[in-house]
Amino acid sequence: MRKQIAAANWKMNLSWSEAEQLLNDLLSSSYHLSENQQVIISVPAIYIPLAIQKVAEKSGVHIAAQNCYPKANGAFTGEISAPMLASVGVKHIVIGHSERREYFNESDTFLAEKVNATLAIGSTPIFCCGEPLAIREAGTQNEYVAKQIEASLFQLSADEISKVVIAYEPIWAIGTGKTATSDQAQEIHAYIRSVLAKQYGENIAQSISILYGGSVKANNAVEIFSQPDVDGGLVGGASLIVTEFNAIINALK
Ligand code: PGA
Repeated sequence: MRKQIAAANWKMNLSWSEAEQLLNDLLSSSYHLSENQQVIISVPAIYIPLAIQKVAEKSGVHIAAQNCYPKANGAFTGEISAPMLASVGVKHIVIGHSERREYFNESDTFLAEKVNATLAIGSTPIFCCGEPLAIREAGTQNEYVAKQIEASLFQLSADEISKVVIAYEPIWAIGTGKTATSDQAQEIHAYIRSVLAKQYGENIAQSISILYGGSVKANNAVEIFSQPDVDGGLVGGASLIVTEFNAIINALK
């Protein structure tokens, strides 16, 4: 059974004390996670040790990094490597968020290196893909997303890709309040799964969790997550509000 995942993406938000408060509020909430459900909270790097310490007792809740640098160490001022993240207990790293692709010019090949670096330290890449509005309007979103996946993931062996989580996040829905309809999400998630099946076989494709991201809120999560190929969400804005994120966790299948 595929993992169903509610992943928070705090992005570059919250002070130390606000982060601490939000974690306390989240952890004292009374949601129950079943065996195949996970909560992953991706926090700014500076809060990772605090967050890991806080969730230590809570089973099914993990802390993720929002990024890593592909090299293990060296003269890369300001960067943080995957082995450094592993050394503080990180097991999940978000790779290729559209904001990093756009504002930091991260290319498909650079992202492939980050995916490799993440897997090399035994962590799970949460690999983001998704099209801009112009591509959606032209109706070529499937080809666009397939190319992102092929270019950054198809260097992986079958065993390696089984460890990846994919997050489909249409750029036109991120932070805009404009969600893809559940039909649109289902259609492209099923397509992504077919692309994986063609390369790695049906069994592996069926085992990979594919999350939807882009204005997921308490009031649309149940509908979106109920789609057969949607295995939860990657949530930005609504993950900063404890009642919203709790409702999103409760919306997991
Ligand atoms: P949003 O962000 O939920 O605020 O649209 C999602 C994301 O960027 O991961």
